[in-house]
Amino acid sequence: MKFFIDTANLIHIKEAQGLGVLDGVTTNPSLMAKEDITGKDNILQHYLDICEIVDGDVSAEVVATDFDGIVREGEELAKLHEQIVVKVPMIKEGLKAIKYFSDKGIKTNCTLIFSSGQALLAAKAGATYVSPFLGRLDDISTDGLNLIAEIRLIYDNYKFETEILAASIRHTMHVINCAKLGADVMTGPLSSIDGLLKHPLTETGLSKFLEDAKSFM
Ligand code: E4P
Repeated sequence: MKFFIDTANLIHIKEAQGLGVLDGVTTNPSLMAKEDITGKDNILQHYLDICEIVDGDVSAEVVATDFDGIVREGEELAKLHEQIVVKVPMIKEGLKAIKYFSDKGIKTNCTLIFSSGQALLAAKAGATYVSPFLGRLDDISTDGLNLIAEIRLIYDNYKFETEILAASIRHTMHVINCAKLGADVMTGPLSSIDGLLKHPLTETGLSKFLEDAKSFM
């Protein structure tokens, strides 16, 4: 399972990269705004800064909603750095653009996926990644994990190569349950990654070992 961090915060990205288990980064316009990154040049530079920190794929989202605009923005983003994956919303024009990018060998992440039908369309269009938003479904009392399971079944039935990128992860149990269901990738905040480290028995066990080790020194 690949681990992506879902943030535009460079400190968090560096910290996750330092753990040695980070495979990539996802961003979205809200995450960029949260870091006060505004203006096209600053936004493009920020993507480059992220690519400098990590080795893997970095999703950069288009904001156009018409085919020509999505293609224009996506091609500019893809040219920026080889690690950039063009993140495109699951709308009709976005679907057409994913097919266009796929034919040109440009990697895409189809975002804002809330149903298995949408995921099926994205895979048929040739999306590299599909991002079902687990946490936001849970927020409205719908079983987000069930969507991950459905997409896994459908993709396996037809051997689609599109990777399931479980998004909108909120906590460590989301990560573990997505791993059980066979999601290819998870993207979440730093807390969902370093939270996996923690167990009270590890902490008390280590304290006791260190206490007992004092007599060796
Ligand atoms: C997906 O790539 C999105 O950036 C993200 O996971 C959305 O998460 P949220 O629902 O916590 O905003």
